[in-house]
Amino acid sequence: MSFRFKTILGIAAIEAVLLFILIWNSLLFLRASNEEELIKRANTTATLFATTTKNAVLSTDVASLDEFVHEVIKNPDIVYARVIDSKGVLAQAGQKDVLERSFVADHQFDTVDDGIYDDVAIIEEGGVKFGRVELGISIASIQNVLLKAREQISLIAIIEMALTALFSLALGTVLTRRILTLKQVSENVATGDLSSRVLVKGKDEIAVVGNAFNIMLDKLNQSATIQQQYQDQLEALNNNLEARVDRRTAELQSSNIALNKMMSELKVEKEEQRNLLEKLRQTQGQLLQSEKMASLGQLAAGVAHEINNPLGFVSSNITTLKRYVADLMKLLNVYEESESATNKSELHDSLLILKEEIGLDFIREDIQSLITESLDGTDRVKRIVKNLREFSHLDEADWQWVDIHDGLNSTLNIVNNEIKYKVEVIKEYGDLPRVECLASELNQVFLNLLVNAAQAIEDHGTITIHTAIEDNDHVRIVIADTGMGISEENITRIFDPFYTSKPVGTGTGLGLSFSYSIIQRHHGRIDVDSTEGEGTKFIIILPVSGQDKAAEV
Ligand SMILES: Nc1ncnc2c1ncn2[C@@H]1O[C@H](COP(=O)(O)OP(=O)(O)O)[C@@H](O)[C@H]1O
Ligand SMILES: [Mg+2]
Repeated sequence: MSFRFKTILGIAAIEAVLLFILIWNSLLFLRASNEEELIKRANTTATLFATTTKNAVLSTDVASLDEFVHEVIKNPDIVYARVIDSKGVLAQAGQKDVLERSFVADHQFDTVDDGIYDDVAIIEEGGVKFGRVELGISIASIQNVLLKAREQISLIAIIEMALTALFSLALGTVLTRRILTLKQVSENVATGDLSSRVLVKGKDEIAVVGNAFNIMLDKLNQSATIQQQYQDQLEALNNNLEARVDRRTAELQSSNIALNKMMSELKVEKEEQRNLLEKLRQTQGQLLQSEKMASLGQLAAGVAHEINNPLGFVSSNITTLKRYVADLMKLLNVYEESESATNKSELHDSLLILKEEIGLDFIREDIQSLITESLDGTDRVKRIVKNLREFSHLDEADWQWVDIHDGLNSTLNIVNNEIKYKVEVIKEYGDLPRVECLASELNQVFLNLLVNAAQAIEDHGTITIHTAIEDNDHVRIVIADTGMGISEENITRIFDPFYTSKPVGTGTGLGLSFSYSIIQRHHGRIDVDSTEGEGTKFIIILPVSGQDKAAEV
């Protein structure tokens, strides 16, 4: 329901109630006063009529009475008039049907039921009643007046209602129009048009609301402007940030690509390095093998000679023994035959001849020395084999606690055949604890150093092997020779792989290089001290606990 309609309806309702009360009261009042008036007039008329007719009644002048009644009913409101004395009706006039009714006086208006107010007045003189007059007054005129009044009031009421409706419509329209302006402005604001303002006219409440609305809009506009500014700043910052992030991302991406490229290159390089390293390791292994073979080859000659010698005489002794056994068998056969023979003297002679023939006395002596000599030969071979095994530690390749002197001795036994003719070996062994080491590898080092020393001695010389305790955790082994020595220019190169001063086929140039790495693996140290023309000294320092990686030289 619109505001305008509500206004009209409200005003109309109030108006209608008020009008109703007003009309109702007016009509009641009008009716009451008219009725009162009519009753008064009826009474006055009846009394006056009684007074007028008194003399004629007293004189029973019927002609005058007749004249009187006809005179009275000339009054348009009076419907009938009648004069009565004790004997009956003296004169009457009026409408016939009304005159024929039986008379009942109406003392008040409410009892009127036939449209005629019936009234009576007594005719008396000196307190004596002579008769009475009866007359009827029509109430139609009152009813007419009331009807007219009702019609007029209704008309006024309708006009009044119409005017009210018109006025409230106008008022409602004006009010709603101004409220609609507010509504329109707020709709504009809602759609984002903050510049929209209410057109304020006058100083009434709606104007006040409009003003307040405008102030609110101003404030809103201000804060919107500030917010917009902030938003613009934020957007600018954001754009800036985005650009920076983009730039950084691009930089990062390009450096990432570069990094990836580098990484893959590095990977390739690493792969190549690994391959190279693997090849190097293989080559090193092969080299180590060939160096071992070379030094073993040198040794093999000596060992072969050493074994060949006893093997030669053991074999010739066995050949002789075989011959002796055959001769002795012949002799035994003759003895066997003699057990069943009859001619004993003949047999005795042939035995003597045979004994002389084979030289039994010599055989008896020679067998003893041949067997002793052969056993000595096999003992020598056995010793050589034992030395070889001890040197190589074939059965025990891992870390173990050993006596360094055992290693030196077994190595000396091996090289001895090579060097015994030109070198005198002097052992200056100290009192050493057992040392944890890879024994066969350490023997390889000793072998290299001893062979090098022997090769450095051209004619005749000495090799001194000196051992001592270096400190609490280390031992020292020195192998010194009186050989040709090493020049200052070469001394820095002797540990390089493939450096050799020896003719092709004799030296590989790997002995010292491998010795160096073996000593390193023992966390030890190898040094050289040499004077050209006087001799060379190799000093090895070994930790007692070689496997213990914490041990340092
Ligand atoms: N005791 C030594 N006296 C003199 N020179 C030596 C001695 N030990 C090594 N050298 C020199 O060091 C070189 C390298 O030795 P090494 O590595 O054992 O290889 P190779 O013995 O096969 O030559 C030798 O060729 C030699 O010139
Ligand atoms: Mg060598």
